[in-house]
Amino acid sequence: MAKMWAGVTAGNTDPVADDFNSSIRFDRRMFRQDITGSIAHAAMLSAKGIISAADCEALTAGLAGILEDLESGKLAIDEKAEDIHMFVEQVLTERIGDTGKKLHTARSRNDQVALDLRMYLRDESDEIAALIRGLLETLTDLAEANTETIIPGYTHLQRAQPVSFGHYMMAYAMMLLRDLDRLKDCRRRMNVSPIGCCALAGTTYDTDRRMEAARLGFDDICLNSMDGVSDRDFAIELLSALSILMMHLSRLSEELILWASWEFRFISFSSAYTTGSSIMPQKRNADMAELIRGKTGRVYGDLMGLLTTLKGLPLAYNKDMQEDKEGVFDACDTVKMCLTILTPMLATMTVNRENMLRAAQGGFINATDLADWLVKKGMPFRSAYKISGELVRTCMETGCVLETLPLEIYRQHCPLFDESLYTAIDLKTCMEKRISEGGTSVASVEKQIAFVRKELKT
Ligand code: ARG
Repeated sequence: MAKMWAGVTAGNTDPVADDFNSSIRFDRRMFRQDITGSIAHAAMLSAKGIISAADCEALTAGLAGILEDLESGKLAIDEKAEDIHMFVEQVLTERIGDTGKKLHTARSRNDQVALDLRMYLRDESDEIAALIRGLLETLTDLAEANTETIIPGYTHLQRAQPVSFGHYMMAYAMMLLRDLDRLKDCRRRMNVSPIGCCALAGTTYDTDRRMEAARLGFDDICLNSMDGVSDRDFAIELLSALSILMMHLSRLSEELILWASWEFRFISFSSAYTTGSSIMPQKRNADMAELIRGKTGRVYGDLMGLLTTLKGLPLAYNKDMQEDKEGVFDACDTVKMCLTILTPMLATMTVNRENMLRAAQGGFINATDLADWLVKKGMPFRSAYKISGELVRTCMETGCVLETLPLEIYRQHCPLFDESLYTAIDLKTCMEKRISEGGTSVASVEKQIAFVRKELKT
């Protein structure tokens, strides 16, 4: 078929070149945005008297028909087409005749594709935000049910101090809340319309870019036409926000994988989210969490890919920019899949409180509290720290823990010790006494939960 752009050349490109040039394989998913954008364009052209009201009606009806037929599957996308924009225009002209050829007045594929991508990613951002909110709800529910569940908090993956499992979960909730905020911020800059920038320089027609933008739900228009058609930082920003989000999901996944291991057994996944081994009958693998951790790499790759594609491009549009889509689509798909699996996996997992407590009891994670007890009796912290450390060593040598070490041994190390030390080093007290704002006490975690829930309402 003759190319729609045949003119100065015969448009008789080599079929292999056609194939290489075509983006329909991946830009076909923007058909809704493309058609919606074109309907708004026809309305603006007509409102400004650039085309007649009758033409606008024919274009609108034709485009709406194409959309309907694509949605229903009645119309199949032609894999040989150059891209989704050309395909829609071609079908439109086949269906309504010469009027179809008027649609592309005061427009270029350069501003059209920038528009479609912004609209498409805007919708994706909203879907991803909704999924993050769902995950946040699950995390806060888990936290609420576990404000008194004691788990060892780690530094260097060594048992450090007791925290509640609720506090642990809320740490991830705080990260995700920032991810949500980053998406919102990114969406705000994305929601600026490039349509009407045309090929690069604007147009001689008396168009109304703001009317068209408002109709498509944009807050503003790109104020420089060369920037409007060349900028892809909205996609890079989204990729960067998604990369950070995936980094958070990956860290949580790593914890879940460790916690589900025989060595920890802090949690057990529902059988709906574990897999077996083809050879080892005892295995219950945390494949879903491992895949989330693994897929983080591809999202980072998508970000690096687009940054690299754009770094050397002179203004304005270059065909390299067609490479902007696959990576960012892949990142959105990946993030949505990960969030969709992680939320129910967390909601259905069993929290093995006794195992968490047992681990907390065996690791001298109340040694700081023992030192603090001496400080409250008037001893400088450094000296108290030393005595506490010596007592831990004595425990290790005699095979007991600070809770079971007899008072006379304590007194041999320091005569200040009395019975009340045992209450101070009780794990529950240790946790409960961490009342500083943002600490692990029940009241503090409840405050965090209330904060996140309030944020989720806005
Ligand atoms: N398929 C192209 C893309 O994705 C559309 C823009 C083509 N513009 C052009 N001047 N050839 O970027």
